[in-house]
Amino acid sequence: MTFLVYLYKPEKRESIVNILLVHSYKGGSGKTTISLNGARSLAEEKKVLLIEADFKMPSFSHLFSSRNVSCYFNDYLNGTNKLTETIDRVTLHDENVHLIYANPKFVPKDKIHSSKRSWFITMRDNLFEDLKHLDYDIVIFDLGPGVNFFTLAILTVANGLLDVVRPDFQSFRGIEFLIENFYKKAISSTNVKFNIVFNQVPSHPKMTTLLNEWIQKLKIRHNGISNIWKLDYDDEVAYRSAIQEIILPKGNSVMLKLNKIFRSLV
Ligand SMILES: Nc1ncnc2c1ncn2[C@@H]1O[C@H](COP(=O)(O)OP(=O)(O)O)[C@@H](O)[C@H]1O
Ligand SMILES: [Mg+2]
Repeated sequence: MTFLVYLYKPEKRESIVNILLVHSYKGGSGKTTISLNGARSLAEEKKVLLIEADFKMPSFSHLFSSRNVSCYFNDYLNGTNKLTETIDRVTLHDENVHLIYANPKFVPKDKIHSSKRSWFITMRDNLFEDLKHLDYDIVIFDLGPGVNFFTLAILTVANGLLDVVRPDFQSFRGIEFLIENFYKKAISSTNVKFNIVFNQVPSHPKMTTLLNEWIQKLKIRHNGISNIWKLDYDDEVAYRSAIQEIILPKGNSVMLKLNKIFRSLV
């Protein structure tokens, strides 16, 4: 990928921690569903930390409301808590996944909401340094949708990027917007694995042809995309989310595909 770095050039990396980002242009595409189930899947073989970095639409606290969490990623970013103090060690279908939650309350003075651009660069370096000292193989960020400085900063240290796209026209154009206007400003090297997943694909008979046309267009217009995946709209996934059960059974077809997607990213 011939991405230009003119905004935030990170120091040379020494870490063995693999940083994986789950992002999208719009909200509701399936980032949280995909991040949590992907983290659970990778945790079968690796030590995985999943950080909720969707500060404007936080959902981990709602999904894991039975957990007793009092300390959030926001508190670490504010400088009031150590990163280790914000970690919740949960077991998701027999696998140990460590979670960090975004604050479910909006606190305007939180640094994430009130800081200037330069703060994000320092934050990125401190966070990266702290992550290096923790014992994780993979750190996944469930990011907020669209463009923001947190995502821009963290993109510069990522090893993998999974962009989740619902198959509607705005989202298709949205992914092109992100590539042209956002990712190219931050992704620093050719070794970032950039994957796209069309999620919640309906079973309409004309959908497959349309998606294949879009996939062709994306591949022709943007070099550097490693893989483009499709995940069907799945009634079981949708129903489970209504009853607060976001972790999918191991045999679910979306889950089986996520196993493949996440293994290809690390
Ligand atoms: N493949 C899928 N099939 C059916 N529903 C899905 C699928 N993926 C996600 N969803 C549903 O879409 C909604 C939004 O998903 P979520 O993961 O919260 O998105 P985001 O984190 O991007 O805002 C949820 O109700 C979720 O259950
Ligand atoms: Mg989400």
